[in-house]
Amino acid sequence: MFMGFGGDIMLKDNVLKALNLQVNREFYSSYAYFSMALYFKDKGLKGLEKLMKKQAQEEIEHASGLVDYIYNRNSQVSLETVEAPHFSFSSAFEVFETALEHEKNITKSLSLALETAEVQRDYMTQSFLQGYIDEQVEEESFFSSFIKKCALIKEDQLSLIVFDNMLTE
Ligand code: FEO
Repeated sequence: MFMGFGGDIMLKDNVLKALNLQVNREFYSSYAYFSMALYFKDKGLKGLEKLMKKQAQEEIEHASGLVDYIYNRNSQVSLETVEAPHFSFSSAFEVFETALEHEKNITKSLSLALETAEVQRDYMTQSFLQGYIDEQVEEESFFSSFIKKCALIKEDQLSLIVFDNMLTE
């Protein structure tokens, strides 16, 4: 077992548990955003479909980053069942409201994991998670901006189609 900087590189149990939980949440995020992409696909809104598929892909990358980190800490990744998303939307506005709410929950979950690492004085994990939390500012702002745009469009279907076409470029 590698020992460095005077300590054991393996993660403490509760830190590992929090990181594995986050892996599952990132995979769920991907699944959730993919389901939102399917909502737009069903409506023929290819730009918004593409946008949400890209978000789904980014969430896989977040999960992969966590997996790599756990491995780099000589610890065991545990892949759990990913819950199926059960959303029902009546508008693009609702989709982005749901996505923003979800990202806020992800921020909370990352913050709890960071607190666990703080209690354990696991500075490497704190630093790692801080990068994820920093990115949440952009993640929340991204969906917030789409809520504002959809609020402007309201029920104007033609504007929604024009907006969607802009996203396909
Ligand atoms: Fe991986 Fe959008 O949080």
